[in-house]
Amino acid sequence: MGKPLVFVTRRIPEPALNLLREHVALSLWDELKPVPRDVLLREVAHAEGLITMLSDRVDAELLNAAPRLRVVANMAVGYDNIDLHALTEHGVVVTNTPDVLTEATADMAWALLLAAARRVVEGHKVVESGRWETWHPFYMLGQEVHGATLGVVGAGRIGAAVMRRGLAFHMRLQYYSRRRVPQLEAALGATYCALDDLLRTSDFVVVTVPLTEETRGMFGAREFALMKDTAVFVNVARGGVVKEAELVEALRRGRPWAAGLDVFAVEPTPPNNPLLSLPNVVATPHVGSATLRTRTAMAVLAARNVIAVLSGQPPLTPVNVEVLKARDRSASASAQS
Ligand code: DGY
Repeated sequence: MGKPLVFVTRRIPEPALNLLREHVALSLWDELKPVPRDVLLREVAHAEGLITMLSDRVDAELLNAAPRLRVVANMAVGYDNIDLHALTEHGVVVTNTPDVLTEATADMAWALLLAAARRVVEGHKVVESGRWETWHPFYMLGQEVHGATLGVVGAGRIGAAVMRRGLAFHMRLQYYSRRRVPQLEAALGATYCALDDLLRTSDFVVVTVPLTEETRGMFGAREFALMKDTAVFVNVARGGVVKEAELVEALRRGRPWAAGLDVFAVEPTPPNNPLLSLPNVVATPHVGSATLRTRTAMAVLAARNVIAVLSGQPPLTPVNVEVLKARDRSASASAQS
């Protein structure tokens, strides 16, 4: 029997490709730009495994074109690009890449937090353009980070890593998530609070929640109006959790005081996005996990997930395996009854 065919939708770090070559028949879209949809639909026709990027849409249309598909390994911790319901219905295992990107993404949240608080990008532009005229006591004042209150929305691995960094800045830590996480409170001294309270009392609000139907549009005019007029809002999660037009208006009014954004409603965000013309916005192109070490670890984990499933082993970091197991159990129970 030949090796199972796996299609990889983008050039990924070599260690992951080497691992795949040892175990599967590899078909690779060896480009840095996304695979065109028609090519993807053609390529999946015989594939049993697929490694996807967060910009690939994996939905019912793709499933219909991929009758042999058994596993989709998304090279991201988020999987809002995947129609989980449709894949689960078809018995396709979905995996993601948690843990390996936690620290890099938390670093990026902090890069944005510090850059927005201390006007790093605005300052760079002033120096670069020759508009730096003098030093004076009130010039380019920012927000004090040390000793401030850090409010993290989402208490998963990335949220916890963002908070851990706050300890080094002697910050008061508070968080909001659907469920309380007593371990986090014990380990970091973080306080759980309701979202509105967190927004009212935090100097820095960092968003780390996944994009789901529940979190879509979670931050709009109402939420921004609750924030301090000195607060900095940071989003390293997904653009869809923010109502972008309402953030523009809020930033124009100065509440929040500034924003650091790694993610946007539409990516790449068009250059005429009004957010980009605001002096109090620091924007980066969805690079939370973008270090070579982390991207290599993500690619290798995705490869290991595909190889595991195609060789009959449990995936390392499954998203829907429990649901699939429960479905199998109820199918076999009804077959026996
Ligand atoms: C993820 O893994 O979901 C990140 O957004 C990728 O950088």
